[in-house]
Amino acid sequence: MTLYRAQVIDTPEDPFSGGALRCDADAGLLVDGGVIVARGGFADLRRRHPEADIVELPDGILLPGLVDTHVHFPQVRVIGALGMPLLEWLERCALPEESRLAEAGYARAVAAEFVAGLLQAGTTTALVFGSHFAPAVDALFEAAAASGLRITSGLVVGDRMLRPGLHTSAKRAYDEGRALAARWHGVGRSRYAVIPRFALSCSDDLLASCGQLHRDVPDSWFTSHLNENLDEIATVRRLFGGGSYLDCYDRHGLVGPRSVLAHDVHPTDEELKRMAEAGASVAHCPTSNAALGSGLFPLNRHLAYGVPVALGCDVGAGTGFSLFKEALQAYLLQQLRGPDGTALSAAHLLHLVTAAGAQALGLRDHIGDLSAGRRFDAIWVRPQPGTPLHITIRHSNGPEEALAKVFALATSHDVVQVWADGIPVRRDRLADAVM
Ligand code: GUN
Ligand code: ZN
Repeated sequence: MTLYRAQVIDTPEDPFSGGALRCDADAGLLVDGGVIVARGGFADLRRRHPEADIVELPDGILLPGLVDTHVHFPQVRVIGALGMPLLEWLERCALPEESRLAEAGYARAVAAEFVAGLLQAGTTTALVFGSHFAPAVDALFEAAAASGLRITSGLVVGDRMLRPGLHTSAKRAYDEGRALAARWHGVGRSRYAVIPRFALSCSDDLLASCGQLHRDVPDSWFTSHLNENLDEIATVRRLFGGGSYLDCYDRHGLVGPRSVLAHDVHPTDEELKRMAEAGASVAHCPTSNAALGSGLFPLNRHLAYGVPVALGCDVGAGTGFSLFKEALQAYLLQQLRGPDGTALSAAHLLHLVTAAGAQALGLRDHIGDLSAGRRFDAIWVRPQPGTPLHITIRHSNGPEEALAKVFALATSHDVVQVWADGIPVRRDRLADAVM
């Protein structure tokens, strides 16, 4: 048993429903077998458990491991292409790179970079868009399992408008998905997700095969893109005869409580109503939406309809793996929406990148905060002395203000230790794997 001593901040109660930030200046977390078995004041827990090994985490803040609900594995090497809208960026940047993952050695190298990128940023759980190639998806699951990362992922499928090397058929998509799910779904921390790339790149037959796979793999997840860009939406309407974008997925049984739809920048009221009724969640990707000029996410309308929202970095179209940066961008963007904006506090931001993500992925009983009974997925944010983050935290009036500084200033370099399921992630091993 290990007793961790730290300043701990988390959001066990949802700030969007009036919950307050929980801040313990000198907390003790007693961890056994990867589970937090007791939480309290450090001095009290030390007295009650003199046998426990003690790990002191002085300075800085211990937070729950971050949860990313939308991130593309094959796009690590193309982060940062600026100046294009979605469809042009896909054609010129993302799809050429995704084609390279046909080669297994290339895919393994990218998988190591991807896993390292997530963990270095403090992300311990992610819903991951896999690759169009089954061996590359195996490489991702293998790298994640070796690292401690908790992932839900799967084969990405499309059968039109991408490029021939990325196209599949309804039967092949089903067969390859079924085989991957048999290897990885429910194995360790891995789960399988059915992933049509987006309705634009999928025939109705292919989406029907996705629906069948989702039904045939019990407790599988579904994720795809939705309502990201106006040209994309117009094309989807034309291809599918004018119905709603959401309905392309919904009519095949793909919209339910185990569904996460990415972006949803331009939803109709009917779609929001339907997602709320189905219990489907939305992954908001604010830096990607800004970089591609996709639009200003209407958080107020999602909240009004009761659609659960969490955050995703998107990675390729976004600006990197940092969920601190995503949360900051979410905050900035809402400030710019004027009267339609939702004012976000540091507590809201922490909730969006931890508990809300865990909720969207059906993992809230296990992760999302640092209460007794949860798995010990945690990150220690400890800025280097003399940096602006160190200085502003030292001069903060209280923990909520200190947390706001983390969102304003922290980068992956300030995440000095990550635990996944109670096990410290070795940064040197991550770096070695990437070489
Ligand atoms: N829509 C279809 N594919 C993609 C992708 O790779 N990134 C984003 N942002 N949107 C998409
Ligand atoms: Zn995406």
